Amino acid sequence: MLRIAVLGVGRIGRMHAANIALHPRAALAGVFDVNDAAATEIATALGTVKFASAEEAVASEAVDALLIASSTATHADFIEMGVAAGKPVLCEKPIDLSLERVETCAAKIAGSPVPVMLGFVRRFDTGHRAVKAAIEAGRIGDLHQLAITSRDPGLAPAAYIEVSGGIFRDMTIHDFDLARYFLGEEIATVSATGSRLVDPALMERCDDYDTVTITMATAGGKQCVITNSRRAVYGYDQRVEAFGSGGMIATDNKPLDNTRFSGPGATGQAPALLDFFIERYDDAFAAVIGEFVGAAEAGRAPAVGFEDGRQALILAEAALLSVREGRTVSISDIG
Ligand SMILES: NC(=O)c1ccc[n+]([C@@H]2O[C@H](COP(=O)([O-])OP(=O)(O)OC[C@H]3O[C@@H](n4cnc5c(N)ncnc54)[C@H](O)[C@@H]3O)[C@@H](O)[C@H]2O)c1
Repeated sequence: MLRIAVLGVGRIGRMHAANIALHPRAALAGVFDVNDAAATEIATALGTVKFASAEEAVASEAVDALLIASSTATHADFIEMGVAAGKPVLCEKPIDLSLERVETCAAKIAGSPVPVMLGFVRRFDTGHRAVKAAIEAGRIGDLHQLAITSRDPGLAPAAYIEVSGGIFRDMTIHDFDLARYFLGEEIATVSATGSRLVDPALMERCDDYDTVTITMATAGGKQCVITNSRRAVYGYDQRVEAFGSGGMIATDNKPLDNTRFSGPGATGQAPALLDFFIERYDDAFAAVIGEFVGAAEAGRAPAVGFEDGRQALILAEAALLSVREGRTVSISDIG
């Protein structure tokens, strides 16, 4: 049994805590949150203990591993604490909003055999995995072009957007990771456009964008286009299309159920989409815990690790620079 403590039990930490409790080879060792009411609520609901601090959780002999789901600014410190204590870490994205801080964290944990996994959940989606397997099996021949669409169902609260680090570091970071996952080789150039079409006033105030398109290419010429919007009125839009010399494979959105309605004025009408990431990627979030438990038990590198988090942030920095300077950015210029 891998005994995992959860640091931060907000929106996503409480879901991870419940998934740990459900996993047959994991146990929820306890929770810590600076918001004591949230920690009490989750500890009571899941029948576990509450730690008085992150340090107490890390040092506890009843804790084998850590899941970090606290606010982004805490991630790098908590990763360093976990690795120093020899305890495997599963950390939510992003590692940090500052590439400089990510680099100092990388230097601190360099050479350690302790598994550090990044919570890039989309790699664990069954549809995305099927696309990856098809590419690897050569079903679409040589991969030439990748199109990733990711649109949120609605604008996050202003208080969230203000501290999110901007759309590229907070939202597109998932798509940057997916692009690397599917392309199977590093991206060399990034060109991005950013617009303020959903809430121009808020985006202006936050110096952010709500509508972005990113075009990327590998050194070998494989291309990828990512399209993001912070608001799709029809729901959480998550699709991938991989096109190659021998064919094309695509994943579609997940509706609430698989019914189709036909009647006056409509044929084959599908239900609404699953609302947001916790519902859309519920199987994938459970699979993230499974991969982490497997890696921690075996003391092996997880399927997605610290370096993937670092590379995704580099792509986010490149996209932001591209928008700001109106030019194509070479990845070698970043960092
Ligand atoms: N993988 C995904 O799809 C996904 C989705 C949402 C959020 N996230 C990431 O997960 C993290 C948490 O996001 P959220 O939406 O749950 O935010 P949230 O604000 O709902 O929860 C964060 C929690 O961390 C707690 N916290 C803050 N500082 C802390 C500290 N020093 N020690 C312990 N707890 C502390 C807060 O009190 C809060 O309860 C963020 O880094 C975010 O980027 C990932």
